[in-house]
Amino acid sequence: MTADQTLATDDWAGEMGRKWLARLDRFESMIGPAGAALMAHAGFKAGDRVVDIGCGGGGTTLEIARRVAPTGSVLGLDISGDLIEAGRGRAQQAGLGNISFENADASVARPAGAPFGRMFSRFGCMFFADPYPAYANLHHMLTPGGRIDLGVWAPARDNGWMASLAGVLGKYIELPAPVPRAPGPFAMDDPDYIRDLLQQAGFSGVTIDSWTGDQLVGGAEASPAQAVDFVLSVLSVGEALAKADPAIRDQGTEELRALFEQFHTPRGIVMPAKVWLVTAYA
Ligand SMILES: C[S@@+](CC[C@H](N)C(=O)[O-])C[C@H]1O[C@@H](n2cnc3c(N)ncnc32)[C@H](O)[C@@H]1O
Repeated sequence: MTADQTLATDDWAGEMGRKWLARLDRFESMIGPAGAALMAHAGFKAGDRVVDIGCGGGGTTLEIARRVAPTGSVLGLDISGDLIEAGRGRAQQAGLGNISFENADASVARPAGAPFGRMFSRFGCMFFADPYPAYANLHHMLTPGGRIDLGVWAPARDNGWMASLAGVLGKYIELPAPVPRAPGPFAMDDPDYIRDLLQQAGFSGVTIDSWTGDQLVGGAEASPAQAVDFVLSVLSVGEALAKADPAIRDQGTEELRALFEQFHTPRGIVMPAKVWLVTAYA
């Protein structure tokens, strides 16, 4: 069984960005508990000038804007133009004046307002095709001594939600072999690699704390059927199951539904997750 590639996510600027946008509430609430832990760990205060890398639809960017107001500000940066537009719309609706967005590739971008004192990213920094120069570019966006806070997935085998999902899907379809450090959700699951990447980029004082908590599979308050639908429509291997021979597809979806039934609570499908909370200084 291989879990690492179960969430294969290429083409964030196009199709994957649009998939994330189409289910923004579900995605953001699914990773809400991990995000809350990262936000508390980062400990923003009024006056901070922050860049949120791979900000997606801006859920964390809006929250940072509120935390650093009235004197601080935040820039949300993302490679998906669709997600950046959504973030702008939400910020406008919320009436926040200390937030801006930029559609750019963080691995090479020189964003307006740089350098920043703080950098934040919830699962937005594991998709670089060429990570070493990309992290050097992130370092360049910070003032000397500026702080980076990243949330990245710990190994798939330690993430009960992913391991269980892969365990079921792997019985019905062939899961791609894992490629260590390949761009994707689990690219930075190895603490030694994280330290090397950051240190080579010029960061120091690297600390890596482990957070374990809940993953709300399929989003907050999802039913088992909604979680199955989510997996089949947004994960590449879920799509592969959806397209499989009908008998295989039906058996696989039924087993997935039975899995989610075991974890069903009023909060949704609550499964165990593990994330590295990474801090370092430019
Ligand atoms: C897993 S999503 C997380 C979104 C957001 N941080 C959140 O927690 O809601 C990953 C995000 O990283 C963005 N991303 C991927 N590669 C990027 C790059 N090279 N530059 C900027 N953003 C990137 C994607 O477009 C996507 O919005």
